[in-house]
Amino acid sequence: MELKGFFASRSARAIMRKRVSVVERKKVSTTRLKRMKAEGVPIAMVTAYDYPSAKLAEEAGVDVILVGDSLGNTVLGYDTTLPVTLDDMVYHTKAVTRAVTAPLVVTDMPFMTYHGTIDKTLENVARIMREGLAHAVKLEGGSEIAETVGAIVKSGVPVMGHIGLTPQSVHQIGGYKVQGKTRDQARKLLDDAKALEEAGVFAIVLELVTEDLAAQITRSVSVPTIGIGSGGGCDGQVLVFHDLLQYSFGQPAKKFVKTYANIGEQILGGIAQYVKEVKERKFPGEQHAFKSERELAAVWSGQGE
Ligand code: KIV
Repeated sequence: MELKGFFASRSARAIMRKRVSVVERKKVSTTRLKRMKAEGVPIAMVTAYDYPSAKLAEEAGVDVILVGDSLGNTVLGYDTTLPVTLDDMVYHTKAVTRAVTAPLVVTDMPFMTYHGTIDKTLENVARIMREGLAHAVKLEGGSEIAETVGAIVKSGVPVMGHIGLTPQSVHQIGGYKVQGKTRDQARKLLDDAKALEEAGVFAIVLELVTEDLAAQITRSVSVPTIGIGSGGGCDGQVLVFHDLLQYSFGQPAKKFVKTYANIGEQILGGIAQYVKEVKERKFPGEQHAFKSERELAAVWSGQGE
């Protein structure tokens, strides 16, 4: 197709429109997220761990990209998030921030990188911000880390809180269980949310919190809540990239995840077909090869000098 023809085609116009909309999208700031809560506009957040996944997330219109330490499970092959290091998070954050323009990029502080002295914590946060170029950090925990959260916020770095099921404490919690089922647990989660709000967080992730409690927390804090497995009463939702797209192998289905695409199966099918065609000498075809000048080709085939 001629270039003129290409630009006249409907699919090309759709692509161009989409690109313009990405270029024109305003940067998402923490104040914009707070305004979205006030105006009742839902916040869409997804995890991404590399350049292509972040590019696609931005094209799809997400407000916030989380470079989650779930990358330990999804891309590094660990059973939990505990082995993920600060270097891992810096490395993956760099790839994500190279890709995006509009979404706010939040990076998880990995296990035990914010439980030492405040100075050491700030040093670790500085690496995520200075080297990774993240816009904000996320910390797991409630009132017990409020002082640390306050110190990070005072240093000028926006902090997202994360309460409910906190995967870095999985061994203490005793598994990936729904939180807030008892009166005591519910009281503690409400207090934690308040303590984080007072410490200055700009948003709070509520993971695997009972639906009614998550809605109650959402009503009682001024900052947006972002739910995962916590029902529809939160100000926004987050899902793990590999969960919503089924980009994994043999993972058990999670009740709170909706499958929007099954790219794992597509990738498997594509690679299997490639292997088959290589074995059957069907790939590469004529159209995938490059020709030399006619005389030289004759030399290779033994018919020239
Ligand atoms: O690491 C992560 O992906 C997260 C989400 C589950 C919120 O913390």
